[in-house]
Amino acid sequence: MKSGLFMNLAMVRGLLAAGVLVTLMGNTATAAGDAQAGMTKASSVCLACHSLDGNSVNPQWPSIAGQHESYIIKQIKAFRAGQRVNPLMSPIAMTLTDKEIEDVAAYYAGQTIKGQEGAKDKIDLGQQIYRGGLANGKVPACLACHGPDGRGNSAAIYPAIRSQHATQIVMQLQAYRKGERKTDQNEMMRSIAAKLTDEQIDAVAQYIQGLR
Ligand code: HEC
Ligand code: HEC
Repeated sequence: MKSGLFMNLAMVRGLLAAGVLVTLMGNTATAAGDAQAGMTKASSVCLACHSLDGNSVNPQWPSIAGQHESYIIKQIKAFRAGQRVNPLMSPIAMTLTDKEIEDVAAYYAGQTIKGQEGAKDKIDLGQQIYRGGLANGKVPACLACHGPDGRGNSAAIYPAIRSQHATQIVMQLQAYRKGERKTDQNEMMRSIAAKLTDEQIDAVAQYIQGLR
């Protein structure tokens, strides 16, 4: 158990170091993944749930098109290590080698996400939370890390969340709030989600779904 945790921390540190290196190199460094090989793997395994273009049809399955390569790698490795658990995704992750993970990450990072609009009656509150946080100062603005358009930050491994299914955003925020999802370094997302009500989560999710 102890050595497992140590491994995960070491992996996260390694990824962070890699991210910093990419930034220093002006984001021009070519990633290790082979997108062509990734497409072959995606078309035999991933497409069943995430579709070949990375826009999932079922809102309970995340769209992964255009997600940062660094983040896709981090999450698949977390499922593989049992650090993040899902009955559909975990068994798949356990069959993948490091190379296959890098390849599918390179492939899906190159796809384009297409989202639905956000519910009109909720996006005002959602926008307020996303751009300004909560007035009591306890919840920081989401844009501080996820960016004004929800594109995240590849080097820091802050995920792109724009255009994601609102259902999926709600599921992930609830998982952080319940402490079921623990992949966030320094409990960044758990501490934020813990302070959001259901209504606030729903509103911010609708706003994020409509972000392009
Ligand atoms: C049987 C369905 C299924 C298949 C096949 C599948 N996934 Fe998933 N995947 C899921 C589900 C469901 C989740 C969300 C799990 C959760 O809520 O924790 C997920 C989550 C992910 C995530 C994390 C997304 C995020 O925003 O946090 C990534 C990345 C991912 N899958 C990549 C892949 C890749 C690459 C493949 C192919 C090698 C693949 N998946 C195959 C169902 C699947
Ligand atoms: C201090 C930086 C920071 C702030 C502020 C922040 N996030 Fe995050 N967020 C992260 C990081 C880092 C992750 C990835 C953590 C992990 O690997 O589980 C994440 C993950 C997420 C995810 C899961 C994405 C996925 O597909 O796996 C959602 C949804 C999300 N954040 C929504 C929000 C919302 C909504 C807000 C504002 C209320 C917010 N975040 C504020 C850093 C931040």
